[in-house]
This record gives sequence, C-alpha cells and structure tokens, in this order.
Amino acid sequence: MISMFYMSLTEAIRTHTGLSPQIFFTLLILMITVYRFVSGMFVLPEDEAASRSASAMPHPSVFAPPPEPVHIGDMTLEELKVYDGSDPKKNLLMAIKGQVYDVSKSRIFYGPGGNYSLFAGKDATRALALMSFDPKDLTSDIDGLSSDALDVLQDWEYKFMEKYVKVGQIVTQKQSESNGGQDS
Ligand code: HEM
Repeated sequence: MISMFYMSLTEAIRTHTGLSPQIFFTLLILMITVYRFVSGMFVLPEDEAASRSASAMPHPSVFAPPPEPVHIGDMTLEELKVYDGSDPKKNLLMAIKGQVYDVSKSRIFYGPGGNYSLFAGKDATRALALMSFDPKDLTSDIDGLSSDALDVLQDWEYKFMEKYVKVGQIVTQKQSESNGGQDS
C-alpha cells in the first residue's frame, strides 16, 4: 500500500516536474530553508511582539536604543564571553581577527534569538571566513584557509570596521594579571 503510494508519488513528480524525486525533494527542502531563513530576518520586532503572548514577549532591551559603545581595550576570550547578550544590560561584543567590535546596534542579528547570536561574545574569524555556523569554527584560527576564504574574511573585516566601533582587542593574558592567572 505504502509502496504503491510512493510509486505513484514519484511518478507524478517525474511527470509534472521532469525532475527525479531526489532532486525534487532536495530543491524543495532548500527552498523552504532559504524562505524560512530570509523571512525570519525581516520580521519587525513590533510584529513579532504582537504575534506573541505576553509571556513569550522578547526582553524589552530588544526595543530599547542600543547602549553607547564603551572602549575596553585588552580583553581575554574569557572576558569577551560575558558580552554574548545573555546579560541584557551589557553591550554586545564580537571579535573578528582579534579585534573586538561593539555590535549592540545590531541586537536583532546578534542578540538572543537573532540569526547570528552564536557569534556574540566570540571571536568568529574562522566561521565568517568559511561562512560557517559550526560552533567549532568560532575561533581566531585561520590555519589552512584558502585564499578565497581569506578574501571573504577580509570583506567581513572591512564591513565591521565601517559599521561598528572597535572597543578592544583579544589578548591571551592581561598585562596586569599575575603569573599565576589562568590561561583562557
Ligand atoms: C541562506 C543564506 C543566507 C542569507 C539569505 C543571508 C542573508 C542575510 C541578510 C539579508 C543580512 C542582513 C544584511 C544587512 O541588513 O546588512 C545578513 C546579515 C549577516 N549575515 Fe547572512 N545570510 C545567509 C547566510 C549567512 C552565513 C552562512 C553567515 C556566516 C556564517 C552569515 C553571516 C551574516 C552576518 C554576520 C550578518 C550581519 C552583518 C552585520 O553585522 O551587519 N550569513 N545575512
């Protein structure tokens, strides 16, 4: 019964689209994924708030004006993590090539629930170069990257330099820390 249904479905796909069922479903999934991704990005915070119940309302900080960038200077990766958006009172920071930028004005992208929230509080160098959302690429390590990936990375760096205020840079250990301090 199921196999008959399957056969007539695959036959119908072949007849109507001229595509093999595998290609048809792959295309369908790709289209749905791109549609969901893009449409999710263009939902206005106001619309989103209206469509949700009061208990599911996003944090009011989503609607508040972004905090002013504050220059921090040297910071370790461990210190950067604090600015990942989990504390709404803190600025949102993100690093690319070891340079830390204040991305608070793009809370919609990088804040909790944003499409790029995984980059907040991290050095996202490798992820941006590879256009990857894999958490293992959230590192400043550029070893083995192709020249194309390095070009992509350079474009991202220019974009960040132009759009955001640089507030510091990543160091492995703070000058002021004692020798007994832990490495991050
Ligand atoms: C289906 C694939 C994707 C689509 C359709 C898409 C689309 C977009 C759009 C429309 C924006 C807003 C641009 C703006 O208003 O300035 C954006 C921003 C952004 N995208 Fe994507 N994107 C995709 C994949 C990716 C991937 C794979 C990455 C990296 C791993 C990425 C990283 C970013 C970042 C970091 C921003 C924010 C840049 C900023 O701070 O201004 N995107 N994307």
